[in-house]
Amino acid sequence: MPNTDDHIAPSLQAGNAPLPVINLSNVHLTLGSGASEVHVLKGMDLVVQSGQSVGVVGPSGSGKSTLLMVIGGLERVDSGKVILDGNDLEAMNEDELAAFRGRNIGIVFQSFHLIPNMTALENVAVPLELAGVENALAKAEQELIAVGLGERLSHYPTEMSGGEQQRVAFARALAPNPKILIADEPTGNLDDETGEQITDLLFEKQRERGMTLVLVTHDTHLAEKCQRVVRVRSGEIETTSDGLASIGQKLG
Ligand SMILES: Nc1ncnc2c1ncn2[C@@H]1O[C@H](COP(=O)(O)OP(=O)(O)OP(=O)(O)O)[C@@H](O)[C@H]1O
Ligand SMILES: [Mg+2]
Repeated sequence: MPNTDDHIAPSLQAGNAPLPVINLSNVHLTLGSGASEVHVLKGMDLVVQSGQSVGVVGPSGSGKSTLLMVIGGLERVDSGKVILDGNDLEAMNEDELAAFRGRNIGIVFQSFHLIPNMTALENVAVPLELAGVENALAKAEQELIAVGLGERLSHYPTEMSGGEQQRVAFARALAPNPKILIADEPTGNLDDETGEQITDLLFEKQRERGMTLVLVTHDTHLAEKCQRVVRVRSGEIETTSDGLASIGQKLG
C-alpha cells in the first residue's frame, strides 16, 4: 500500500510538525465536456489537521460537494496535489485508491444512499465485508447499537424514518473506523429536530474516535459547531475562520 516516502510531499517530510491528515494544494478540476464543461475547482488549497472538524459553507454551485468528492477519493483532480494522511491519491491506481478509501474515509450523503434490498444490519456490514473484516455482522450490530438502532437491525430502509436511515448511513460510514469522515448536507433531508439529533450524534462520534470531520452544510449555525469554518466561492477557498467549537476550547 502506498505509504512510502515517495508518496509523501517533500514539504511534509521536513521537521517534526504534525502531518496534516488532509492536504490539498492548488487543486484544479473541470467536470463535464463540451457545452456542459465547468471549471469547478480553481486552485483550491486546504490543510486540515488530524481530529479537526471543518464546516464548509458557500453558495450553491460553488464547488463544495465536488471538494468533498476529491477529499473522498471519488473524483480525480486535473492538477494539483491531494495528500491524505501522507498518501498521494494521484499516485494510486484504482484498486489502491478503493482500498485506501475503504479503510480511511467514511462518507455520509444528504440522501442516505442505503441499499434498498438489504436490512440495516446488512447495509452496515457491507463495507466491513469488503474490507475483509472478520465478524462483520457482529461489528455492524455494535455500530448500530452505538447510534441507538439496536431495535432496527432487521428493518429495510423503507421500514425506517429518515432520521433512522441517516443513522444507519452513519453507522455504515463509522464501522471501518475511518480517519476522515466527510458529510455532505447530512441533515438536508431531515426536519429540524431530527437534524439536530443527527448533528449531535455526528459530533459525539467524531470526538469519541478522534476523527477528522469535513462537513458541507448550508446551515451556518451547524457549520459554526465545527472548530473551523471554510467558505468556498467559485471553486476557491474564500475565507477560513474559527468556529464556535474552537472558540469554546480556547475559553477553556
Ligand atoms: N458532472 C458535472 N459536469 C458538469 N458540471 C458539473 C458536474 N458536476 C458538477 N458540476 C458543476 O460544478 C459546479 C459545482 O458543483 P457542486 O455540486 O460542487 O456545487 P455545491 O457547492 O455542492 O452546490 P450545492 O450547494 O447546490 O450543493 C456547479 O456549477 C455544477 O453545475
Ligand atoms: Mg452540494
